[in-house]
Amino acid sequence: MARTYGVGIIGLGMGRAHCQRIVGSEKRVRLAAVCDVDADRGRQTSETYGIPWYPKYADMLADPGVDIVLVATPTGMHAEHSIAAARAGKHVLCEKPLDVELPAARRIIAECRKAGVRLQVGFQNRCSQDSRRTRHDIEAGRLGRLLFSEMQLHWWRGKPGYFTKGGWRGTWRYDGGGAFMNQGIHFIDLLVWFMGRPVAVLGRCATTLFPIETEDVGMAIVTFESGARACLTATTTAHPIETDRTRIYLQGSEGRVVLSGSYTLDRTEVELGKARPGAGRPPRGTTLYADLAQAIDDGRDPISSGESALHSLAVIKAIYKSSKTGREVKLDLD
Ligand SMILES: NC(=O)c1ccc[n+]([C@@H]2O[C@H](COP(=O)([O-])OP(=O)(O)OC[C@H]3O[C@@H](n4cnc5c(N)ncnc54)[C@H](O)[C@@H]3O)[C@@H](O)[C@H]2O)c1
Repeated sequence: MARTYGVGIIGLGMGRAHCQRIVGSEKRVRLAAVCDVDADRGRQTSETYGIPWYPKYADMLADPGVDIVLVATPTGMHAEHSIAAARAGKHVLCEKPLDVELPAARRIIAECRKAGVRLQVGFQNRCSQDSRRTRHDIEAGRLGRLLFSEMQLHWWRGKPGYFTKGGWRGTWRYDGGGAFMNQGIHFIDLLVWFMGRPVAVLGRCATTLFPIETEDVGMAIVTFESGARACLTATTTAHPIETDRTRIYLQGSEGRVVLSGSYTLDRTEVELGKARPGAGRPPRGTTLYADLAQAIDDGRDPISSGESALHSLAVIKAIYKSSKTGREVKLDLD
């Protein structure tokens, strides 16, 4: 029987949803411990699930029942917590984005490699059947040559308290950005995962509605190594709409795929050409935990490896630089 891995969680905001998911539906991992500096959140979660709560992460990292650490603290703390976990010999599932700065994100990747532990980044959209099929269709040649793509994120984050609770959202220091970095990164990540290596970025950002440091409206044009282009729009000001709306449009010379929804995207339009011979069957959906457990067993990189997750972070950092300087920014991903 396949081994199950114990998960210790640092940060019990989003981390509580992970607790529910692990206990409710994950087969390859079990909930082992939680850590939060907030005693109410820590005690309550510990009582609900009958697992230890540690106020200090160093103590949780010494717990032999913890094999994987989920880092779900404010983004500007990810490097500290992920690196400590790797040095303690734990595999890491780091919530998105890896960190607010590229050098810190690169340090996380390097420390995980040095410690010989696996690093998965919290881009759960890569795991869905529709996303995996789309990538498979691209690799199988069914869209032909990719010509053009779009990502649109129309979300509303104006509920009272959204930007003030926790004190870190919408700040450069701990959120690292706004509509692109916090909300849009999931879909920029998917787009880049589909389109290939980004090489240049032109961006324009503005803070139009909320009293925050970072952008609530952003636009960008990304050029890929293949010569294809993408047009990105992200906003958290989309009021009044009932549900968040997100859309990714991929146009190839032989076909087209449109993915749309709110947090999870479904293929809503598919027109494909023929697959190359030997393209194989499209993969099924998975979860970040199931894939990480299998990656540990197989000694391979997980689906959302640190190196691959760096690309969307680099694009967003370049959007901010371009918006500030007014110039196109060339990307150096090596
Ligand atoms: N994958 C997704 O869809 C998704 C969704 C939401 C948030 N996130 C990411 O998850 C991370 C956390 O976001 P959130 O919305 O849960 O934030 P949050 O503010 O709700 O929760 C953060 C928690 O971390 C705790 N914390 C802060 N410093 C700590 C420390 N030194 N040691 C232990 N605990 C500490 C806080 O007390 C708080 O309970 C962010 O990086 C965010 O981008 C990902």
